[in-house]
Amino acid sequence: MKVTVVGAGAVGASCAEYIAIKDFASEVVILDIKEGFAEGKAMDLMQTASLNGFDTKIVGTTGDYSQTAESDVAVITSGIPRKPGMTREELIGINAGIVKMVSTSLIEHSPNVIIIVVSNPMDTMTYLAHKATGLPKNRIIGMGGALDSARFKYRLAEALDAPISDIDGMVIGGHSDKGMVPLTRLATRNSLNVTEFLSEERLEQVAADTKVGGATLTGLLGTSAWYAPGAAVSEMVKAIALDSKKMFPCSALLDGEYGLSDLCIGVPVIIGKGGIEKIVEIKLTDAEKAKIAESAEGVKKTNGLLTL
Ligand code: 2OP
Repeated sequence: MKVTVVGAGAVGASCAEYIAIKDFASEVVILDIKEGFAEGKAMDLMQTASLNGFDTKIVGTTGDYSQTAESDVAVITSGIPRKPGMTREELIGINAGIVKMVSTSLIEHSPNVIIIVVSNPMDTMTYLAHKATGLPKNRIIGMGGALDSARFKYRLAEALDAPISDIDGMVIGGHSDKGMVPLTRLATRNSLNVTEFLSEERLEQVAADTKVGGATLTGLLGTSAWYAPGAAVSEMVKAIALDSKKMFPCSALLDGEYGLSDLCIGVPVIIGKGGIEKIVEIKLTDAEKAKIAESAEGVKKTNGLLTL
């Protein structure tokens, strides 16, 4: 499998590194516009190959999309990250133009590519990629819920003082500080509902901490996180590579599912070799449905800022 990662910044480089270490791809091409930056990151990563035990070939290129030709999957991480105190939505002015240019350049050289969008505001950037490329809707996936769910599990494990391997949980809705919907009702510790162990107040705190997981890290780091975003994307790429039929919450273009249409927002999907192979409609409570509807309003409002 050939994977392109656009953007050699912290998220893109982490994504490339995790893909390489998981060793399911034959080649990873990292592309950046900063002279020599992607080439340097690729070379540095290749010098870990004998130490981390992978055979994936990682190459870097400065803006030459011909190097990305015939990619099976392309991950778009390019654009500016948040600074402390910023919302993801505030990045639209700069990132929309970048994502539009990148996605159209990618399909020029890889007509059969599956695109995974990471750049923020991610749900809107995913929607933009659909509009800009016209790719079939199963072949454009937004990465947000996989990351948010990982943060949800982290907070649940912290509250339960339990190993993360015991925990399962999912976050759906928009990838935004206000729009995320952590499904506390369905979260489990070793198949037992977490409501058996945690009070409603404590679960509300877990959900609140999850929703600002990105902003918390931006406050600590001075920029957006990169390890967990990179790891989350690598798991999605792996599911495509191995045709895993694995379920992830991802930003998908909806056409009536969950009563929503003409937007991309986080819902459970099955990922396999075809990208989004199925959108899974789960039974939600009225309260959860209301949260999703409110989240969708927020995403549509941000979409409205696009000049398509
Ligand atoms: C995050 O939440 C970058 O949006 C990503 O960290």
